[in-house]
Amino acid sequence: MNLIRKLVTNTANKERRRLFRPPLFRNTHRQLSSCETPTEQIDRPLFFVPKGNFGQPTCHTHPHLISEEHLTCGISQAEYKERRETLVKKLAGEAENIHKSHIIVIPAASRQYMSDKIPYVFRQNSDFFYLTGCLEPSAVLVMIKPPQTDKFKSILFVHDKDAHAELWEGPRTGCAAAARLFAVDESRPVENFPTFLNNTAYRLTATSKPAVLWYHSDNPANPELHTTVQSTLRGDTTLVRNDPQKALHFMRVIKSPAEIELMKETCYIGSQSINMAMACTKPGMSEHMVNAILEYTCKQGGAEHLAFPPVCAGGPRATHIHYVANNQLLAGTEMLLVDSGSQRWMYNSDISRTWPVSGKFSKHHRILYEIVLTVQKRLIEILGEQRPALDKLFDSMCRLLGKYLQQEGILPQNVDGQELLGKAYRLCPHHVSHYLGIDVHDSSLVRRNVPVATNMIVTVEPGIYISPNDTTVPAEFRGVGIRIEDDVLITDGDSLVLTDTCIKEVSDIEALVGKQSV
Ligand code: GLY
Ligand code: MN
Ligand code: MN
Repeated sequence: MNLIRKLVTNTANKERRRLFRPPLFRNTHRQLSSCETPTEQIDRPLFFVPKGNFGQPTCHTHPHLISEEHLTCGISQAEYKERRETLVKKLAGEAENIHKSHIIVIPAASRQYMSDKIPYVFRQNSDFFYLTGCLEPSAVLVMIKPPQTDKFKSILFVHDKDAHAELWEGPRTGCAAAARLFAVDESRPVENFPTFLNNTAYRLTATSKPAVLWYHSDNPANPELHTTVQSTLRGDTTLVRNDPQKALHFMRVIKSPAEIELMKETCYIGSQSINMAMACTKPGMSEHMVNAILEYTCKQGGAEHLAFPPVCAGGPRATHIHYVANNQLLAGTEMLLVDSGSQRWMYNSDISRTWPVSGKFSKHHRILYEIVLTVQKRLIEILGEQRPALDKLFDSMCRLLGKYLQQEGILPQNVDGQELLGKAYRLCPHHVSHYLGIDVHDSSLVRRNVPVATNMIVTVEPGIYISPNDTTVPAEFRGVGIRIEDDVLITDGDSLVLTDTCIKEVSDIEALVGKQSV
């Protein structure tokens, strides 16, 4: 690890490194008993985290993870409430909507099972988490807004306390504490949701037609709840249906200061895990072992788990862009492509690096690597200088790749214009960028043809993939896949690379690979 730290210090811009604040476990100085102040029982402020053993960590039960003013790590109850207010304003504030009643239904994810009663690791629905900070399965957020007022009511339906269920699953927050904990107006048992929806829909349409139900019905987060919503409202023609997700994605694509801090942390963890995988790489090691090192290092650094099944692809396997089998042994002649990231408090990093298994680039691998690196660095500059739409950045990638591949004799000299772009695209058939945040492919309803804006976080991930059978390319360049991917914060000035502690210069890679024994 010392070697990695040294390299990181040498490589990264010191000013930017100041922004990262390892260690990543917060408040390690606080003792559990520091929350036991008697005064909070007397004058309860508007935002207040109650004491108790709940369905998720709080500042009282997990002070090493969450500080006193926060509901989840880094994010306050006030920020979650403000997000709900912003969403309601966006949905109900359009001219054609202000005279209508609105009911907005945002479900939590339900538990998924591998088989019988064996659960997968629970992953909360991103939109629900963004609006509540609640990590409990099968809950429902409902917001009701009458016409011609700014006021609205937030109701959170949760599983109520149940000694038998809690014996198996662990503590629940329960209705009595949920309204306080999640700073909503009311909390009710989730079993009451169908009747509530039915009655509310009836009341709204009877008294103040028309009313709008905002509910996302594609890929429902909770299939059982979806069936309830559909059957409860079947035949109700007075309730207009609409989808809140596009408005939510436009909110989520711009990160708040608190979210940017969390993104810096997850990007730091992901970067260190890839540095560690690089340091441990040796000929003969399995891709599976590389996967295990990534997973171990991310969790050790404070992540819940990896952001997605990582790609650990040696040699020609890297030409399959979604290779996740990770079950081959690495040969000393191969390059290794890793695409991995961490999820920390729901926020994801997404990083790709490619390095020689032997620790020394071959002449031809180095030529390809330096093309991708040069293109990637230029694209990061373009993001800051021109703030283009991501689709425009993709055009720039094809143009730059085409130019450099032609210069190196990898693409033919006698093509130009669209034909050259087409040939570059054939060697990098994926997009160069996506938004990043609570989802890896974040805010997917925000199209990539809108210019990037301050406080968006996007990836920059050009690559070159040359199949072993591609006879249009000189033989010595075949059978290799290279991708370099960083996570970049758009600011009012230059782009800020949040993953800049992850090694990518040729000399740094050659100094690091294989230097750590496993
Ligand atoms: N790891 C998925 C992506 O880079 O988009
Ligand atoms: Mn990506
Ligand atoms: Mn990736």
